[in-house]
Parts: sequence; structure tokens; C-alpha cells
Amino acid sequence: MRFTIAIDGPAAAGKGTIARALARRLGIAYLDTGLLYRAVGARVAEGADPVAAAQSLTEADLARPDLRSLTASEAASRVAALPAVRAALVDFQRRFARRQGGAVLDGRDIGTVICPDAEVKLFVTADAETRARRRWLEAGGEYAPEPLATVLDRVRARDARDMGRADAPLRPAEDALILDTTELDIDTAIARALQAVNDRLRPRD
Ligand code: C5P
Repeated sequence: MRFTIAIDGPAAAGKGTIARALARRLGIAYLDTGLLYRAVGARVAEGADPVAAAQSLTEADLARPDLRSLTASEAASRVAALPAVRAALVDFQRRFARRQGGAVLDGRDIGTVICPDAEVKLFVTADAETRARRRWLEAGGEYAPEPLATVLDRVRARDARDMGRADAPLRPAEDALILDTTELDIDTAIARALQAVNDRLRPRD
């Protein structure tokens, strides 16, 4: 069977955790598409041309240990605003999405641009304060290298860049189910996402 679950949303809304959980429960493949942009950003930070880096991306680039850093996220959201970089990454994502057995992809434009025909589309979001607090706690809370206010500024700046760019801006697809995780713990959020997938894949009449 081939089917695609597209999950979009802003940073730290919980979409990666939900996507991984769905992939595991359903036994299907998972692609974190943010890694593609992070890997291109990392190569560009080393002096590479953005489009050349996107065109020559390898599996090894996606396994780099430094892709989760703050520098890599900033670099990613900058290269992600370049239409030629986005275009160079489309085929890889579409091939992954239609693989035999099904796939979950998470990102910013999966339901709108990469897989507009995905069988299931979720838009996972949460308010900026909640997302910033999650990132800050992950980074150590009181012991985090940056105060909460700085993390919030970064979250807002990245949202503005991702939502404001002309090419493939972050927005929900018209037929996406919106899952707001502001008030949800992660287990409840996963349960709701799983329910949405089951409803869509096994419709009852
Ligand atoms: O999801 P993650 O935080 O890893 O993504 C890093 C950056 O890559 C995002 O801020 C966004 O600018 C970009 N991105 C994108 N389209 C995607 C996935 C990520 O533009 N499908």
C-alpha cells in the first residue's frame, strides 16, 4: 500500500514527536524534511553554494551530528527562503512520500506543496510562548544557555521568516486537520493524531 501522512507546523509544536510516533505505530517510514534544509544550511555555513549544496545532498549529510544546533536552525530557515534550494529538494521528498508501504513526512510545506494529494494532512501548532518554553526546558531551563525571553524572540523570528516567505510559506493546507497542542500533553496529542489517521484511512459510514 502507498499512502502519505503530511504533517506541517511551526518549530517546537510537537510535529516531529507526533510524526515519529505515528511512523512507529503504523510501521511506516519517516522523513524529517527539516533535516534537508538544516544540512544545506550547514554546508552553506562552510562556504558551499546553497543550490549546489541542495543538489548534491547525500544521506551522509543528513546524519551530521551538528544539525540540531541553534546555528543550524537559523541557517536552515535562511536557505529555505531560496526558491532554487526548495526546488532542488522536491523530488527527493516526493519519492520518499510515495514509497511502498507508506510514509510520514513532517515540515512546513508538505501538505501544501510537496504532497498536496497526501491521504492525511495534519497541521500541528501551539502558541509561541508555549513553544519557546518547551525549547528552553529542553535546553536545560534555568541552566539553559539562553534566557526564555531570547528563545521566544528566536521562535518569533523563525515563525515570521517561515510564514512570510514568498515561496512555500508555512500555512495549513485547506483540508488539513488543525491540532493545537498548547494545552495538550504529548501522549494526548499523539492519540488525537492517530485517531485522525485511523478516521481517514478506515472511514466508517
Ligand atoms: O523543522 P525544522 O525546525 O528542523 O526546520 C528547520 C527550518 O527548515 C525551518 O525553520 C524552515 O525554515 C525550513 N523548512 C522548510 N520546509 C520544510 C522543512 C523545514 O522550509 N518542509
